[in-house]
Amino acid sequence: MKIASLDALQIFDSRGNPTVEVLVTLEDGSAGRGLVPSGASTGRHEALELRDGDPERFRGKSVLRAVAHARGEIADALAGWDVFDQAGIDARLIELDGTPDKSRLGANAILGSSMAVANAAAAARGVPLFESLGGGEGTLLPLPEIQIFGGGKHAQGRIDIQDFMIVALAAQSYEETLEVTHNVFHAAAEVMRGRGKLAGVADEGGYWPLFDRNEEVFDALLAAIEHAGYTPGREVGLSLDIAATDLFRDGLYTLGLEKRRFDSGEFAALMIDWVGRYPIVSIEDPMAEDDWDGWKAVGAAIGDRCQLVGDDLFTTNLARIERGIAEEAANAVLIKLNQIGTVTETLAAIHRTQAAGWRPVVSARSGETEDAFIAHLAVATNAGQLKVGSFSRGERMAKWNEVLRIRRRLGDRARFAGAEILRPL
Ligand code: PGA
Ligand code: ZN
Repeated sequence: MKIASLDALQIFDSRGNPTVEVLVTLEDGSAGRGLVPSGASTGRHEALELRDGDPERFRGKSVLRAVAHARGEIADALAGWDVFDQAGIDARLIELDGTPDKSRLGANAILGSSMAVANAAAAARGVPLFESLGGGEGTLLPLPEIQIFGGGKHAQGRIDIQDFMIVALAAQSYEETLEVTHNVFHAAAEVMRGRGKLAGVADEGGYWPLFDRNEEVFDALLAAIEHAGYTPGREVGLSLDIAATDLFRDGLYTLGLEKRRFDSGEFAALMIDWVGRYPIVSIEDPMAEDDWDGWKAVGAAIGDRCQLVGDDLFTTNLARIERGIAEEAANAVLIKLNQIGTVTETLAAIHRTQAAGWRPVVSARSGETEDAFIAHLAVATNAGQLKVGSFSRGERMAKWNEVLRIRRRLGDRARFAGAEILRPL
């Protein structure tokens, strides 16, 4: 089925910032859209999100050049192409851009086009995206990591650590993970209200972190789990995204809230200490994006009992994932489409991660759209884990809800591994 036309427009993400939407229409009239998310705590090695930088327009954040690239060069290059040739199309987009970080056309223009092609292919096949992307092989529903408190750059630095999340360890089904989350999320509101600290939500829908010390957040989170009637560590585990790259300046890690500074070895020791003291089952970015020695120190100490997820470390980039595997620097990889910029490269990153016996964790960005592509991506690849932010705000719920629809569609073929998925192979 051939691509008839490609169009694009500037839409807005969950923070109200401009982003790219691409529409691909096929010769039979079926169509697909690609809506591009946007990060705040971005890694240095990510593909480049092209913004216009004109202070007179949207505070420099408009994406009209990226939109124009999609409507112009990309539309011309893809017209007449077979929509089922996702790999060929993505290779052509990379070649057309010609830069290693997709900075000429913009990774946002390229990813929007690539996602729109994937959606159009599903429409032409008359099946949901997860079936089309996974060739019918995707049947594993993800274990969610769901944020309860948001911090770091998603809460204007109010606390240092970015994500305090929960994992429903004892849940027997995807639906049950959401029930546990519902209970803990609302219990956390009651705990915060009781302490006079309930003050709205951060960028990904977790409660605004009115805390004085990072470890106070652990206390509130454990209190919320217990208040909801669960046993921490047995029924509900903790998962953190430290986003340590944002804490790393001039060779030192800084916890601003506590006015403490650490060298790499000291910060690694703090991460190891937390895993010993709290029921933490997963830590993302405990160390900064280029602190490979720090990563290896954490991995050697706790890699056998805690999932260690590289986000800024790997940026969904195959070359960096290869290095991580060779150096045993982590044991899981966060997967974000817009860090690398095409669907095909994202699939390759997931497959390489799985081939190494590591875990892929499919993830949203802090700036999201109403689109639920990643819910389909997680099931299509049997990734096993999904991280979308919290259990509030429409752009987050759109993903959790889409997995419910996928589950209904899969019927008896749906699988759910629960906490087994966290166990090292
Ligand atoms: P970001 O945050 O989208 O702002 O990068 C998400 C994450 O760090 O996992
Ligand atoms: Zn992260």
